[in-house]
Amino acid sequence: MVANWKMNKTRDDALAFIYAINENLPSCDKVDTVICAPSILLRDLVKRQGDNLKIGAQNMYYAEFGAFTGEISPVMLQTTGVEYVIVGHSERRSLFGETDDMINKKVKAAVEHNLIPILCVGETLEQRELGITSSVIRKQLENALEGIPSKDINNVVIAYEPIWAIGTGKTASSNDAEVECKNIREAIKELYNALAADEIRILYGGSMKPSNAKELLKMPNIDGGLVGGASLDPNSFLELVKDCL
Ligand code: 13P
Repeated sequence: MVANWKMNKTRDDALAFIYAINENLPSCDKVDTVICAPSILLRDLVKRQGDNLKIGAQNMYYAEFGAFTGEISPVMLQTTGVEYVIVGHSERRSLFGETDDMINKKVKAAVEHNLIPILCVGETLEQRELGITSSVIRKQLENALEGIPSKDINNVVIAYEPIWAIGTGKTASSNDAEVECKNIREAIKELYNALAADEIRILYGGSMKPSNAKELLKMPNIDGGLVGGASLDPNSFLELVKDCL
């Protein structure tokens, strides 16, 4: 279960949040719980993370160092001690101009630096209405994973996030979400192999909250969630984590 705080929380809010959940999280043998926080907070969170909590970044650039004002590199993330990084979130794609090619470079850079990329894919409302959801996602996957060898594919987490469901209160029905997550697993089988498809973790994201999470999480191809709004409150996030048990 992954919290994506997006551009929310001051340092004080973030620390209060993790102190509130650290002791109440289920064992990481049962659920992987991750908070993806703004980069300025990462070091503080890693220092205070409990045994069952992992910390991730929300973005990074793919180069190690250089003249890229305002960017953060995989080497810098590694030194903070984070384990995960979200790559290709739809807000990065649509608001900050990230292309499939950049996202592919970021996935590669993450894997090369032992960070687990949480690769986001998903369709717009227009694409859904045109009936091209599955082919859009397939293309995003092929582009983002190009050059990632099979030995590394299980170090990638895929998040299916229909763009029209993000922050809108509209959730994909559990059946629709399952159809796309199943297609993603099928694509991994075709691009890699059956074992990789079996083992890869596929998350659903888009207005997931305590009132709809159980329904989504019981679907066979939905292994967890990537949650924005409902991850900002510690009690609501804890409930979502426990829904994975
Ligand atoms: P919401 O849960 O706020 O819809 O956000 C989903 C998301 O974009 C997580 O990455």
